[in-house]
Amino acid sequence: MAEMKFYLAPMEGLTGFVFRNAYQKHFGDIDTYFTPFINNKKMNYKEIKDILPEHNKGMHVVPQILTNRAEDFLAIAKELGNYGYESVNLNLGCPSGTVVTKHRGAGFLAVPEELDHFLEEIFADCPLRISVKTRIGINDAGEWERILSIYEKYPMEELIIHPRVQKDFYNNTPDMDAFLYAVENSRHTLCYNGDICSVDDYKAWIQKMEGKDREHGSGSTAQHTEHMMLGRGILKNPGLVGELMGHAPITKDQFHAFHDDVLKGYLDVMSGERNTLFRMKELWFYFAKYFTEPEKYVKQIKKTQRVAEYRVIVDNLFREQEWKPE
Ligand SMILES: Cc1cc2nc3c(=O)[nH]c(=O)nc-3n(C[C@H](O)[C@H](O)[C@H](O)COP(=O)(O)O)c2cc1C
Repeated sequence: MAEMKFYLAPMEGLTGFVFRNAYQKHFGDIDTYFTPFINNKKMNYKEIKDILPEHNKGMHVVPQILTNRAEDFLAIAKELGNYGYESVNLNLGCPSGTVVTKHRGAGFLAVPEELDHFLEEIFADCPLRISVKTRIGINDAGEWERILSIYEKYPMEELIIHPRVQKDFYNNTPDMDAFLYAVENSRHTLCYNGDICSVDDYKAWIQKMEGKDREHGSGSTAQHTEHMMLGRGILKNPGLVGELMGHAPITKDQFHAFHDDVLKGYLDVMSGERNTLFRMKELWFYFAKYFTEPEKYVKQIKKTQRVAEYRVIVDNLFREQEWKPE
């Protein structure tokens, strides 16, 4: 398999610029960071803050847009171009009810003709390169063939596939057959996304890719996919990409130092302790995963309203419990 490039998945409320900067400082092994989605006709203050070049120094960042109106997509892309961006990503994967009922995110997959028309318009006029992040359908994988055939018409920079349907949300397992169907039938550069949270998950994924190669007696399938996007796996174990590259797992102290920089980053840019704590509490849903007995501490973290107290709880957790990534 050719050398893999790893991307950080966009995760609303979690992988904003504060997280990205701390990650880059401590680990620096991500090839491209995708921002959580921008979904306003004109970027609001929070969205601008996240994409400002001075907040994203030394990183390759691709902003993501969530819309089903070509006019809005083009207007935001133009704004992003003015900030120096050369590439944008279109969100066709968000499964959340309020987004889907408006035929946006994964909901756009329910109306393929409109989607086709939208893509025609944005590819005709967008001054930036466009990549697409997609699910494989709304209800079942039978929809995928048609959706992929639409994507094949457009010169996208890359197609990122999270092979679940909208109805799955984050349940069930990614559909490798649907991904392999794209590997065989797409002319695009492909990126795989979904449920890679350990070296074992990654090895199993490579085996499936290489199994397909043996069937065809060629080395082409694995080489076709040189990009992998990781989300929850990195939040649970920030050393994951390093491990996938063959490095030793990070230590608890490295995780602690990384955590402290995320906290510091939020305190520097958020107004008020409560906003910072809100963000940190969301992260702990993932950070706690590989601690030996995190429950008591997580309960205290959820309850606390003060940063000073939060720090004590977190320091206790790091000191008193083991951390063993899978
Ligand atoms: C809390 C949360 C927020 C997310 N926000 C976004 C988002 O803004 N844009 C997007 O394309 N996907 C979003 N996703 C989906 C992830 O980018 C990714 O596709 C998904 O988590 C599967 O990858 P993973 O198994 O590596 O986490 C989000 C997922 C979660 C759990």
